[in-house]
Amino acid sequence: MALIIPGPTYAEMRNPSLLPPDRLAAANAARADERDPRNLFNITWRLPAGGVSHLVLPPALTGVDANIVVLVGAPFPSGSHKVGPAYATLAEAEALDGVLPGAKTVIGPSTGNFGIGTAYVSMLKGYRALVVMPDTMSRERYERIRQYGADLDLTPGSESDVILTLERTHARYVGRAEYLVLAQFELLPNYRFHRVVTGDAALRAAAGYGNGRVAAFVAAPGSAGTLAAGDAIKARFPEAVVAALEPRECATLYRGAQGQHRIEGIGDKMVTLIHNVLTTDYVGLIHDDDCVRGLKVLRELQIADCRLQIGDDPNLQSAIYNLQWRDCFGVSGVCNVIGAIKMAKLLGLGPQDNVVTVATDRFDRYPSVLEDLEQREGPIGGATLEAWAERIFRGADTGELLDVRGEPQKRRLHAMKEDLWGRFGYGDDLFAAMRGMAFWDEQAGLVEEIDRRIAAVR
Ligand SMILES: Cc1ncc(COP(=O)(O)O)c(C=O)c1O
Repeated sequence: MALIIPGPTYAEMRNPSLLPPDRLAAANAARADERDPRNLFNITWRLPAGGVSHLVLPPALTGVDANIVVLVGAPFPSGSHKVGPAYATLAEAEALDGVLPGAKTVIGPSTGNFGIGTAYVSMLKGYRALVVMPDTMSRERYERIRQYGADLDLTPGSESDVILTLERTHARYVGRAEYLVLAQFELLPNYRFHRVVTGDAALRAAAGYGNGRVAAFVAAPGSAGTLAAGDAIKARFPEAVVAALEPRECATLYRGAQGQHRIEGIGDKMVTLIHNVLTTDYVGLIHDDDCVRGLKVLRELQIADCRLQIGDDPNLQSAIYNLQWRDCFGVSGVCNVIGAIKMAKLLGLGPQDNVVTVATDRFDRYPSVLEDLEQREGPIGGATLEAWAERIFRGADTGELLDVRGEPQKRRLHAMKEDLWGRFGYGDDLFAAMRGMAFWDEQAGLVEEIDRRIAAVR
């Protein structure tokens, strides 16, 4: 009988120093070979020296005094933190439902990074995998998924046609015994991973700056998993404000609109089932091409004082995949930075205040996106980069930030969620429960028991 390949509990992802020293040492040694299954124990925001993977952007770039603290997902195995929810969903299926390696094909509906994470985790854990995703995402994404041995089931369109992938997933794979669907938009391990693991990382990273609190948390939702970190932040600092960002070209949460856009990974044209809209305070719109141009700025412009902050070893980044700070942004990371600057201005934050946001993935997924930018714009010189930096980052204003704290906005967002997910068979009892905070707190509270089960089967 196939044996379960061991991986971490939620508590160990939050704090790998809970692992036995020999397992921790083996995991760190395994970083040299990403195909080594012991890398499952490196699914964490924490770095070998114990610090949280993050950087703080200099005011020379942001134009605000508040500390913009960016959690950096690049050092995660496979190059983005989306491997976390993919692992958590598979590990829960093994621990709670008795799924065993080889018994099922793992399905990852995705716009890319979750698919990469699904392919990667499935490879390490001994499952065949198939990623369902739109057919016009950056070519680096498909290459990486194939490199990890997974197959692709492509649906027509781009980022904001992800509902087609959802429909394909339900039509072909959900409810069939031979498939295990890691349904990131609807399954709660995604919420649990970010609430328990990312939320803790956000609190820890902010503790080192200003007043040590979190004034705002900003994230552009795809599945809205990352936004769940906001629930952990609010549990600790109830005055913290959570903002969800969307491409201006696809203002779904903002005003129910839908459209094509260039920010891969976000703006998926829906209120996902696992999005706790109760704790989303603002919805902000960001122009998609500003994020692509902003990525070019971060790649090319000399920006003083921008360093990866990884604990007390300044040379550690060379040990972790040779990362430099400029390798740690993709298009959605730039979107999050712009949104963080806007929120710092809206809230009038000063040098004691922290805004936490996230850079989900590594630049290695985006060279083709910048090649496309140059095709569209022609050669991009230093003066253009300076002008873009000024307008896009330092000049970000407080426009297009919608306050969704009031009851009518909550009703609108819940109605959008229920309208979509009712079509996929979810019922009124679940929807009613999701309208109360107790439901979400209970989801986080299940982690202890799930951890016991994960530890028992490995
Ligand atoms: C590049 C990128 N940014 C942001 C996100 C959004 O993260 P989440 O799905 O947790 O909302 C994703 C999700 O796939 C992504 O791939």
